[in-house]
Amino acid sequence: MNLFNVYPLYDIELVKAKGSTVWDKKGQEYLDLYGGHAVISIGHSHPTYVKRMTEQLNNIGFYSNSIIISGQQELAEKLGRVSGYEDYTLFLTNSGAESNENALKLASFHTGRKKVVAFSKAFHGRTAGAVAVTDNPSIVAPINDTSHVSFLPFNGLEGLEAGITEETAAVIVEGIQGVGGIQVASDAFLQALRKRCDETGAQLILDSVQCGYGRSGQFFSHQFAGIHPDMMTTAKGMGNGFPIGGVLIAPHIQASYGLLGTTFGGNHLACTAANVVLDVIQEEKLIENASKVGDYIQKELKGINGITEVRGRGLMIGIEVEQPVGTVRDALLFKEHIFCGYSGKHTLRLLPSLAIDQKIADQFLQSLKTVLAN
Ligand SMILES: Cc1ncc(COP(=O)(O)O)c(C=O)c1O
Repeated sequence: MNLFNVYPLYDIELVKAKGSTVWDKKGQEYLDLYGGHAVISIGHSHPTYVKRMTEQLNNIGFYSNSIIISGQQELAEKLGRVSGYEDYTLFLTNSGAESNENALKLASFHTGRKKVVAFSKAFHGRTAGAVAVTDNPSIVAPINDTSHVSFLPFNGLEGLEAGITEETAAVIVEGIQGVGGIQVASDAFLQALRKRCDETGAQLILDSVQCGYGRSGQFFSHQFAGIHPDMMTTAKGMGNGFPIGGVLIAPHIQASYGLLGTTFGGNHLACTAANVVLDVIQEEKLIENASKVGDYIQKELKGINGITEVRGRGLMIGIEVEQPVGTVRDALLFKEHIFCGYSGKHTLRLLPSLAIDQKIADQFLQSLKTVLAN
């Protein structure tokens, strides 16, 4: 059997990783400023992570949600404390799409409504509901194409009153669009969404799968706008590579037995991974670090020739380059040995571990200058 061929691959096989360094099987070392797509939050193979995951696996790796898994409650309490949402509840999933899927369902259950408002260039995942609210027709199969979803302009203040009504179950938005090219939702836009959702009873879902978990320099990027969503969805950095996602749910949305469910969500290993991530984020002050190093990189980038715009917050950075981004990304990878992400035709995306330091930042800045000068 062959693999179902959906991923265009680089001819690189990574066999080892430590912090923000990865090695391929030929022994070539690379700097990882992509974090495997915003997933590596505390650094590859962090010693505490390896130790506690190994211990957990030696004890018990998995059992279903029919018994007590105390790591779940530990995670809910810790996540509430670190994020500032102690009065919310937590439903655990396995991925970003699954988190969004469940948030949309909860909004619909809660309001008894069907309609959802999403925004231009949004990406929310590839499962049925998540892809239906994603603004990319090429990945929406006919079975997922529904008249329940409408798209409004991202960051547009006009049209919210007509677009979000008493028929709207949910409004779903990224605090900083990732796949859409690192577009930051303005504070005024998020505040206007909160206000319109309050007026209509629509549930406001902040998809924080990519921009959450400290990457922006706040635990959730919407915290810059001072709003409280009805739900936040997470995944990616939550488990530092072990699949886990979650929905943080405001107290007015009630749980009942059987309302939601999953086989793997919240298993022993996943909860250990997520608990270690939060411990390390706090012990190593990684949110403060993301803010400090992110600000430094963004400031330095603005003085480099060949860059037309720098967007983002903390360590979620979009760099608009004059050259085609594919050329820049390939030169960074194959000549400078640095992994970065990209979006569209001209945006380079940095999504590194939240633990990178100024030395790593300087190495990247020097390499980018070299690449853009050629
Ligand atoms: C904002 C956002 N939401 C949802 C997802 C989907 O997450 P997953 O691939 O874990 O299903 C992604 C993935 O890139 C994302 O960036």
